[in-house]
Amino acid sequence: MMNQATRDKPFAFSVEEFRFIAQLVYRETGIVLADHKKDMVYSRLTRRLREYRMGSFAEYCNFLRGDGLKDELLHLVNAITTNLTSFFREGHHFEHLEKEVLPALLSAGAAPRVRIWSAGCSQGSEPYSIAMVCATMLEKHPRADIKILATDIDTNMLARGRSGEYRNEDMKSIPQRFHKFLQTKRREGEQGITMAPILRNMITFNQLNLLQEHWPMKGQFDIIFCRNVVIYFDKETQKVLFDRYANQSKAGAWLYIGHSESLFNVCDRYKLHGKTIYKKVS
Ligand SMILES: C[S@@+](CC[C@H](N)C(=O)[O-])C[C@H]1O[C@@H](n2cnc3c(N)ncnc32)[C@H](O)[C@@H]1O
Repeated sequence: MMNQATRDKPFAFSVEEFRFIAQLVYRETGIVLADHKKDMVYSRLTRRLREYRMGSFAEYCNFLRGDGLKDELLHLVNAITTNLTSFFREGHHFEHLEKEVLPALLSAGAAPRVRIWSAGCSQGSEPYSIAMVCATMLEKHPRADIKILATDIDTNMLARGRSGEYRNEDMKSIPQRFHKFLQTKRREGEQGITMAPILRNMITFNQLNLLQEHWPMKGQFDIIFCRNVVIYFDKETQKVLFDRYANQSKAGAWLYIGHSESLFNVCDRYKLHGKTIYKKVS
């Protein structure tokens, strides 16, 4: 007879198997999975096991040790990443962008060029929020050329971002004055919203693993948003990453990070300018 524990967790999952997966995830993504994340990993990967009709994590690990890794890695990473996000999350960043950063950048020359990177953009709420602020500024600066690069490792999230389609309830955190950039759309009997073309044309969604050796971007950025991404990384990974952000940014560029993140003892090439807002100094 099946006991309660087996019913709740039908797939055997040893600590050694968990650690094997954790090491693989760390090597490929920089995401640290401490031992207390074992239950989370179990629940996020059971769907993968069911897909392959596997009976245990031992089987899944053997598959990853062998030929399976090449094709499975993408699915494993998509399943493991935490994608929590919302429109206008940490609203003070968007206020700062609109009141301080963009006015200065847009007053430089007749046809100013602004390049923004949303690194770890998840389903797109962050880059679309940035785009709504930029589109509003474009009303006063029609000759400005503003582009937003939105990258993430998770291909499912990028697909959602590219679709530009969200649920009505996602709209709640979008300030009323930006609702003019949303189009209502009825699909599958359920009402949803679609982002207006002016926003969609401003954003390019690309897959990018922040840990990969070469970043394909040629130009430098005026503004980087990397919020609630490095909390999953260790200090060593953070040090390398923020140094690379500084290299990929123009002099005096801006960096926004998440509410529980800090550059203290991590990177001294930025100076703290406001709550989780940094300016490049070297
Ligand atoms: C919690 S979400 C943050 C989304 C958004 N920046 C925000 O603050 O609302 C973290 C995102 O980082 C992405 N991520 C994690 N590791 C990554 C890596 N090595 N390269 C690129 N993206 C990564 C995840 O896929 C996830 O979508």
